[in-house]
Amino acid sequence: MRIALGVSGGIAAYKAAELARLLIQRGHEVQAILTDAAQQFITPLTFATLTGRKPITSLFSDGSAESTLASSVEHIGVAQENDLLVVAPATANVLAQFAHGFAGDFLSTMYLAFTGPVVLAPAMNANMWGHPATRSNLEVLRGRGHVIVSPGDGFLACGVIGPGRLAEPVEIADAVDRACKPQVVHDLVGETVLITAGPTQEPIDPVRFLSNRSSGKMGFALAEAAAARGAHVILISGPVDLHTPSGVERVDVKTAEEMRNAVFAHLDGVSIVIKCAAVADFRVASVPQHKIKKTMARFSVELDPTPDILAELGRKKGDRLLIGFAAETENLVQEAKRKLEAKNCDMIVGNLVGQSDTGFESDDNQVILVTRSGTTELPRAPKRVIADQIFNESMKLRLLATAPYAH
Ligand code: PMT
Repeated sequence: MRIALGVSGGIAAYKAAELARLLIQRGHEVQAILTDAAQQFITPLTFATLTGRKPITSLFSDGSAESTLASSVEHIGVAQENDLLVVAPATANVLAQFAHGFAGDFLSTMYLAFTGPVVLAPAMNANMWGHPATRSNLEVLRGRGHVIVSPGDGFLACGVIGPGRLAEPVEIADAVDRACKPQVVHDLVGETVLITAGPTQEPIDPVRFLSNRSSGKMGFALAEAAAARGAHVILISGPVDLHTPSGVERVDVKTAEEMRNAVFAHLDGVSIVIKCAAVADFRVASVPQHKIKKTMARFSVELDPTPDILAELGRKKGDRLLIGFAAETENLVQEAKRKLEAKNCDMIVGNLVGQSDTGFESDDNQVILVTRSGTTELPRAPKRVIADQIFNESMKLRLLATAPYAH
């Protein structure tokens, strides 16, 4: 997992170095974020050495070669790139900032942009820990589902004996690992997601058709993932040999024209559209009424373009999140970017096809997600896992679209 490790200013900051080491040892990638106060207790160099990455130490890039930030919206990038945020030590000030949504430095700003699991390991003076302000801030944070790794009792740096000592790094690393375990998220409750899947079949005559190798597996995996996350799912599918995922409303179609009509007939109330289907680009201009006889030595057919459903959806987009696919055998990123603009999509899932173990028909896939803010390469994984990653990215796009500082 990619973990953002926030370190705030307290004497226990030195223990965060041990936590970084443990997380790396357990196979995580760690990006340290140090508040100004943390840098009074421990140096960025310690974390750079342990994690192999430059820690983030400020909200703004100062333009110097040493600066860690590529742009002033880096907090959004860091929020998107990391799977989990852990803050150790989390001072009373950090708890208050997080609870009340203050965004005065990099850590608190990134927290507001972050949608993944959050683990907080507080450390402070016993009286500060017991203060009603801290208690109520903790309640707010717990209410958001954040994991609080409670401090231990003992002799504190201020000379007082009592609760407030940072939990041991191994305890915090265990809490991080538990929080990393895949959880069923219900972030699509209230959404209606329309997904197209499979190939289309374009008749040549009453018994023959033009089609392609799409099995429907990727689109059905998306439908299953969306339903598991709480969405009402409408799955418009070309002819495939797959079971409908539980709770999904399925509409069967054959041709591109039928798929287009089904999509627009079901569009009312849809908030997310994913066009995963491999729609035929051409259909036979004039389909004969009777079977073409084998006795013909040669025959040719004239083809007309089919309706471009995704492009039409792009023209009538409204507030809907529109996600298209691009199946390519070369220039994947370039083509995906072109389709993103040409079809007015929010995201294109670029799929390199033409190989046997990913893309068409296989159980695994390897894709690249292209949005207006950049590209994310997903490693090869089962289509069901890729489906969840596509929804994770879609939810981030939603957040970006509504974040005032993103514009
Ligand atoms: O079904 P599987 O065997 O699991 O394989 C998955 C897949 C390879 C089919 C899938 O991952 C994929 O890449 N789907 C898109 C296939 C495709 O038609 O790509 P395209 O680059 O030709 O089309 C671009 C986009 O326009 C797609 O979203 C497509 O649905 C849409 N389109 C295309 C033509 C058309 N007439 N109307 C459309 O809406």
